[in-house]
Amino acid sequence: MTDEATVFHIRPLHDKDRNWVAHFMDEHWRSTKLVSRGRVFYGHLLPGFAAFHGSTDHCTGKAIGLLTYHVENQGCEVLTLDSIEQGIGIGSALLDAVKTAAIHAGIKRLWLITTNDNLHALRFYQKRGFRLGHIYHNALEEARKLKPQIPILGFHQIPIRDEIELYVNL
Ligand SMILES: CC(C)(COP(=O)(O)OP(=O)(O)OC[C@H]1O[C@@H](n2cnc3c(N)ncnc32)[C@H](O)[C@@H]1OP(=O)(O)O)[C@@H](O)C(=O)NCCC(=O)NCCS
Repeated sequence: MTDEATVFHIRPLHDKDRNWVAHFMDEHWRSTKLVSRGRVFYGHLLPGFAAFHGSTDHCTGKAIGLLTYHVENQGCEVLTLDSIEQGIGIGSALLDAVKTAAIHAGIKRLWLITTNDNLHALRFYQKRGFRLGHIYHNALEEARKLKPQIPILGFHQIPIRDEIELYVNL
């Protein structure tokens, strides 16, 4: 028997998803504005994948996970990954979706930036083949100039200071 609560479907984002993605970004990242390595991205304009319970139409189904990315110079950067129902495989499935798309597009490197407080993300990505890359010490000082909404304290009340690069060669 299938447990309905753990069944979800994944599809790429389309232009018609921009409104709800913008709301999702406001809720999860305090703004549609994202900052990575001193660059600004607008999350609702990025390509990505979403996970849904029920229908994959946002009006009739329920969005329970979202990944956005940016492709440049043979590399694919995951800008955001969020799962609303953690521990049922949504994060892994979204990561698999972008990895498969990147491989099909001939991209050689999948990478992302997380912050020093995000111990769960460090565990999650390393268990899925990612290696530690550069540590950008105090990068958040500059990032907050671009996005003042970035909090001082993060997960576990750890001060958010450094950007940590994680990558996997494809
Ligand atoms: C990191 C994050 C995306 C992971 O998403 P998730 O949907 O919980 O991911 P999964 O369910 O695929 O995997 C999480 C854990 O649950 C386990 N799991 C997966 N399916 C499961 C199931 N059916 N039953 C029980 N556990 C399960 C996985 O084994 C995994 O554990 P592991 O890391 O020890 O291997 C999520 O925690 C999140 O949204 N965090 C906040 C935002 C964030 O920090 N994003 C990353 C910033 S770069």
